[in-house]
Amino acid sequence: LARPLADPIPTGNLRTLERKARGCRNCPLWRPATQVVFGDGPPDAVAMLVGEQPGNQEDIAGAPFVGPSGQLLDRALQEVGLDRGRLYLTNTVKHFKFEQRGKARLHKRANAAEQEACRIWLAAEMLQLRPKVVVALGAMAAQTVFGRQFRVTRERGQWRELPGRARGIASWHPSAVLRMPGPRRETGYQELVEDLGRVAEAVGA
Ligand code: URA
Repeated sequence: LARPLADPIPTGNLRTLERKARGCRNCPLWRPATQVVFGDGPPDAVAMLVGEQPGNQEDIAGAPFVGPSGQLLDRALQEVGLDRGRLYLTNTVKHFKFEQRGKARLHKRANAAEQEACRIWLAAEMLQLRPKVVVALGAMAAQTVFGRQFRVTRERGQWRELPGRARGIASWHPSAVLRMPGPRRETGYQELVEDLGRVAEAVGA
């Protein structure tokens, strides 16, 4: 991760980490959320994909990228021949943040303090997996992995060296693609596919 952590990094295998994360009280997001949405994938995953934060459906299912952005991501992965089962999918922030409006739960972006509080979990996942390839989807993930100066608009699709002989790349967040207006959406999707294509090539998919 781009900056040092204030708190010690939790240890243990992925299951242990998930169990520990269920008891995390480092920020207030745990209280209204249904559950922690920890990362998902095999310990020997060929690449780690980092999103932003779980949405409504992820909160209910307890698994990352199962809602509309997950479906878009799945389609893009399929196009480039990346098998989701060989990837570790996780998020920068591991609880759904929302505002209750009647029956609807409206997604809210985790603030800087909540992102900071959750960084120990991403750091712990990285220590366990030691991924050779890290893919940051969207600005929140990219700035957590590459630093606050990172701009997805300018720097997506370019490999960067990471500590431990690893490398990282950033792309659009699938939900950002879904929000792009009209024809921009198709271009945005193609750019996501192009960037994931570089990942597929790097891992020999
Ligand atoms: N968006 C994310 O960033 N992560 C998810 O798990 C789902 C949607």
